[in-house]
Amino acid sequence: MTMWSPVLNGRKGPAYLALADAIAEGVSTGVLRPRDRLPTQRSLAYELRLSLNTVSRAYAEATRRGFLEGEVGRGTFVRVTGWQPVEAQPARMARPLSGPIDFSLNLPFAGNAEAALAQTLESLSHSPVLSSYLHHDRNDDPRRHMDAGARWMGRLKLPDAGRSVILCNGAQHGLLVALLALLRPGDVLLVEALTYAPVKSMARHLGLSLRPVAMDDEGLKPEALDDACASTRAKVLYCLPTLHTPTAITMSEARRREIAHVVEKRGLTVIEDDVFGFLPVERPPPLACFAPHHAVFLTSVSKSIAPGLRVGYLQFPDRLRGALQAATNMSTWMSPPLMSEIVSRWIIDGTAERLNAEQRNEARARHDMARQVLGPRLPGGDRSGFHVWLPLPDRWDPDAFCAAARRRGVEVQPASVFAVGDGAAPNAIRLCLSHETSRDRVRQGLAIIADLFDGAPEDSSLIV
Ligand SMILES: Cc1ncc(COP(=O)(O)O)c(C=O)c1O
Repeated sequence: MTMWSPVLNGRKGPAYLALADAIAEGVSTGVLRPRDRLPTQRSLAYELRLSLNTVSRAYAEATRRGFLEGEVGRGTFVRVTGWQPVEAQPARMARPLSGPIDFSLNLPFAGNAEAALAQTLESLSHSPVLSSYLHHDRNDDPRRHMDAGARWMGRLKLPDAGRSVILCNGAQHGLLVALLALLRPGDVLLVEALTYAPVKSMARHLGLSLRPVAMDDEGLKPEALDDACASTRAKVLYCLPTLHTPTAITMSEARRREIAHVVEKRGLTVIEDDVFGFLPVERPPPLACFAPHHAVFLTSVSKSIAPGLRVGYLQFPDRLRGALQAATNMSTWMSPPLMSEIVSRWIIDGTAERLNAEQRNEARARHDMARQVLGPRLPGGDRSGFHVWLPLPDRWDPDAFCAAARRRGVEVQPASVFAVGDGAAPNAIRLCLSHETSRDRVRQGLAIIADLFDGAPEDSSLIV
């Protein structure tokens, strides 16, 4: 028999529901464990000064909710299911402090969003309109949520005249929506020669033909873009002008103007992925500012706040509203109202700004560490993002380097993952420094990378 003793003070509603809630809480926090035997109804009624009938109803309610099971003559037990107490489950957002050091995923560090979430959920639970977040068709909230999104994007000084906003489930979804709305199977999609890898699989699934456009140290080359337009008659370009994946290049304002000029001249629509755009304190204006009639601007809160929220925004010329709304409806109907509400509250009350600043500071600290550990091996570049791009010495092939790093417990991505077309991928790797929770592990991983960098493939093949 468990020593569990429920506390009903402070719980709302009829006593039997308060007791059923206490049982649910006991199971979900692990105080009551699978197969624990509950007190007999009579003894609990005596202890809590409740009627036997109230305790019976509570046990029945908890059984109905799936927390208990009874066996006639043997008593009432905590049900054994796939259910795990919250504490026993690994924290999904935070990296474990053991096992491989993961520099392969471009995700923010866990930060303090959890504390903000706990507070907001508590406050939401008392909301008089809580049930509206369960509805499909709500009239007011999407408008409020879009306004909050517009406010969040406001600091980028995106033009808003003649432009609309749609909520999406993160930038990945926004990107898919844009591709669905703007292209048909067989169409050409222009991309930077190195691009965000999932675009390659999206293109494959949508029957699009990817055409790489050459880059230099400033990003996409305007002449190469112009040539690609002339030779393919492509109508759409996907690009990442700010903290490009994987090279971490941020296009200068001058280069943005040149690209915008080609976009306008060729009548292209550009899908501008600005998912990292809230990390730099100072940055050039979005490409959309220079080609407002031709740009679908895309961002999310994944890198600035937390990726599990799955809230993103598309901002685009009004003329594309029908196509983008149709693709949104087809793929998701709507962004989850509860998540949009959480993000909107955070934007309005300043939490979003605070959490973003934390990401920014941590990104900067990790860049400083990379600079210290890798020294001159690491070329200069934008230090405000989560990732760095590390060209390798000629003796190394990037795939062999990644395999050697994996053998030493560090996961990194080679250039080939991002390369489009048949041309050889550059001899470089991407290191994402923010995903690991502990700075010590980041330093440890960087030291392994530096050591491999200075060694030779033959040495590393001896390491098991
Ligand atoms: C360049 C780029 N675009 C889009 C995304 C997708 O972001 P979200 O989590 O908002 O879907 C990512 C995520 O890693 C990314 O790196």
